[in-house]
Amino acid sequence: MEKILVIGAAGQIGSELTLALRNVYGDSNVYATDIKDAPKDVKKSGPFQILDVMDEKRLIHFVIRYKITQIYLLAAVLSGNAERLPLQAWDINMRSLLNILDLAREVGVKKIFWPSSIAVFGLTTPKINTPQLTFTEPNTVYGISKLAGERWCEYYYKRFSLDVRSIRYPGLISYKTEAGGGTTDYAVEIFYDAVEKGKYECFLKPDTKLPMMFMPDAIRATIELMEANENKLSIRSSYNISGITFDPKELSDEIKKSVPGFEITYKPDFRQAIAESWPQSIDDSVARNDWNWKHEYDLEKMTRIMLEETGKKLEKAK
Ligand code: SER
Repeated sequence: MEKILVIGAAGQIGSELTLALRNVYGDSNVYATDIKDAPKDVKKSGPFQILDVMDEKRLIHFVIRYKITQIYLLAAVLSGNAERLPLQAWDINMRSLLNILDLAREVGVKKIFWPSSIAVFGLTTPKINTPQLTFTEPNTVYGISKLAGERWCEYYYKRFSLDVRSIRYPGLISYKTEAGGGTTDYAVEIFYDAVEKGKYECFLKPDTKLPMMFMPDAIRATIELMEANENKLSIRSSYNISGITFDPKELSDEIKKSVPGFEITYKPDFRQAIAESWPQSIDDSVARNDWNWKHEYDLEKMTRIMLEETGKKLEKAK
């Protein structure tokens, strides 16, 4: 019987992944934790506790007490926010991972999931169809911490046979919980402003193409990777996965089809340079070969669902 700990269960990925994991492994077997309060459905459908991943002692007690067999570590400071407080972000992003890796090795937790990002790539990386193995010279604090994290994951796998699995997520688009602080998050904000105000001021230039993915694909990828046969996995740093590529202009054109009169203006800030250091599209052939990964949602389908769901959410909040 698996007992799963989700750290960061109130966040953009965690709030959806927790529910998906509960569907697979049973509500009472998935322990949701965060430093902040979680959405109602996360709290109602199973166990939830406030827990700080930096509090090593409580963490180890928790894992022993509930006989945890798998940990999903989703707590992190995203790219934009990390640039505002570089050393603090480095400390949080790295120490949380090292705490978990070492605790897992000591206590004997079977499997760990840790998300990496397209932020591990940098200006020297080929931008189109970025391969699994390529130059990785990130120049953001977030990217540096993700790259270092990938190396630690592989190290713990090779040195201690710890079964750590990881995905380099593209920008994630979702309606349930807002991300906050990421460079790709314009592609979430835009939907709220489109529905509420009919206009949006974008912090990236119109032609800034980035690799993106709709959350249901990201959740499915995560669970599929975690359930894949161990001998099939050739990558123990982190897998490239690909979804949709678009720029702010293409996304706004797609929104205009359903929100006539929608207006977008552009006022690039410091995140423009971050976006320009990242790839535009990702080659995920290794993930496809190893564990049959394939994305499902395209720009049109994702936009339709995002507009419907943000509309419902904003209506409810009135
Ligand atoms: N979505 C993240 C960010 O923009 C990238 O992993 O920070």
